[in-house]
Amino acid sequence: MEETAFKIRLMNPDDFDAVVKIDQKVRTAPRPEYYQMKFEKLVQSKDNLPISLVAETENGTVAGFIMGELYIGQYGISQEKATLDTIVVDPDYQNKGVGEQLINEFIKHLKRLGVENINTLVDWNDYRLIHFFSANRFIPSRIINLVRHI
Ligand SMILES: CC(C)(COP(=O)(O)OP(=O)(O)OC[C@H]1O[C@@H](n2cnc3c(N)ncnc32)[C@H](O)[C@@H]1OP(=O)(O)O)[C@@H](O)C(=O)NCCC(=O)NCCS
Repeated sequence: MEETAFKIRLMNPDDFDAVVKIDQKVRTAPRPEYYQMKFEKLVQSKDNLPISLVAETENGTVAGFIMGELYIGQYGISQEKATLDTIVVDPDYQNKGVGEQLINEFIKHLKRLGVENINTLVDWNDYRLIHFFSANRFIPSRIINLVRHI
């Protein structure tokens, strides 16, 4: 895989527009409300610690991002409850290792905080995404998500 000079840094409130724009490129419908809620948590979280990073090109363009949360219980950090909620790389920069770099840096941060497991949800039918997570050493957990259609 091509080695590139992407810089990984913590996400900040000024990244909002870039994040919404990149997300819009990979989805049919934009979801600014979802990111509004996530960015509010970036600045004012009480019972969870947002762990969100962006990948930047050499000239400062946001090429991708990863967002997750670390839930902090009454007794401090709960090792069971770190989640990877969203990872998106701008199609212009996909397949250059940005996704892998984001995951590796995300894990490094969480490891430093004592986390041992990171959970994420993937659509059973999304083979490409399952392949991506599998290549990044995510395995199926022993908890299954049940649904009742009503
Ligand atoms: C999944 C994704 C984050 C990977 O980012 P990336 O920078 O291209 O990843 P890397 O370069 O580190 O790895 C490339 C691998 O990702 C896989 N990949 C590439 N594009 C993909 C896509 N649109 N969807 C899923 N997986 C993809 C490729 O199969 C490739 O695997 P290979 O090396 O065996 O060929 C990126 O493709 C993306 O943003 N997809 C759309 C958004 C999405 O579905 N996000 C996850 C749910 S929140």
